[in-house]
Amino acid sequence: MKDELEQICAQALDDLSRVEDEAALEEFQIQYLGRKGRITSCMKSVGKLPPEQRPEMGALANRIKGTLASECEQCRLRLAEAGFRERVRRDRVDVTLPGHRYPRGHIHPLTRTAREMISIFEGMGFVLETGPEVETEWYNFDALNIPSDHPARDMQDTLYLDRGFLLRTHTSPVQIRTMERGKPPLRMICAGRTFRADSVDASHSPMFHQLEGLMVDTDISFAHLKAVLSEFVRRFFGPDTKLRFRPSFFPFTEPSADGDISCIVCGGRGCSLCSRKGWLEILGAGMVDPHVFRAVGYDPDLWRGFAFGLGIDRCAMLRYGIDDIRLFYENDLRFLDQF
Ligand code: FA5
Repeated sequence: MKDELEQICAQALDDLSRVEDEAALEEFQIQYLGRKGRITSCMKSVGKLPPEQRPEMGALANRIKGTLASECEQCRLRLAEAGFRERVRRDRVDVTLPGHRYPRGHIHPLTRTAREMISIFEGMGFVLETGPEVETEWYNFDALNIPSDHPARDMQDTLYLDRGFLLRTHTSPVQIRTMERGKPPLRMICAGRTFRADSVDASHSPMFHQLEGLMVDTDISFAHLKAVLSEFVRRFFGPDTKLRFRPSFFPFTEPSADGDISCIVCGGRGCSLCSRKGWLEILGAGMVDPHVFRAVGYDPDLWRGFAFGLGIDRCAMLRYGIDDIRLFYENDLRFLDQF
């Protein structure tokens, strides 16, 4: 029995040296040390030996069992350490490698322009208001003294939706909404998208942006309008930029004017942006027509006001020297990245 035990021990140690993972170690333990394992069977048969041999064989079997148990423990530690090293090798981070480059976005040049324009007017005491892009015919036309048979509607054709709704052709309906909401005196601005069935060219887009302004008080004159817009032009485009007013017509203002800026792209010599005129129209303006005051329930004998509508896209073009409005809407990153 002694020989058999020593042979089993030698064989077990040899088997254990080849164990390479947890599953094989488990298998080893069952085979040698488990309830039906080889060492356990030997220990059971010790009881069947002649009494004088039992102590020696019992002690030997116990020693071998102890040796194998402690070798198993050593093997478990060895496997755990090897597993840990493997995980470290696999998950290793080379901190000296260059990092991933995440491109940083920025706001669109038109949004930036609108925000700058808004902030200039807010500095002059105008309050920012909002209005819907899908408007009713009443707010977009009728309340602005443009009845359905008025030829001015042809100049601002748009997409008509069901039930008298349309895509607003200008930001002027927000004048009406603001006057209905509040009482005079008031100073408001509003900026947003506008839509017209205009053919696309270097300075026209069917979807563009306007900034509306309205001031209502008791003693307002055309001089106030000119002063506010000249101050805006000076602050936004710089002190050397020229603003000129031309007589114009809008059904909701009387008198009315268009405002042009000296073309920054060609320096006034004439180019495709300014249609060879040297000037680019950026705004329409005028004194609020009494019909508009009546439409919102203000007494036209008591209140006076001026209003203006600035083309935000055109202002951005002149500010940054961009000669084609389409560049704003093509989503070409080579263009947008420059801002
Ligand atoms: C109006 O839209 C008036 N509501 C402006 C106004 C407001 C007048 C308050 C009086 C009182 P107009 O159609 O001229 O006016 O447009 C104003 C500005 O919008 C133009 O000067 C121009 O800068 C810009 N604009 C007009 N149509 C387009 C277009 N298709 N693409 C780009 N910009 C445009």
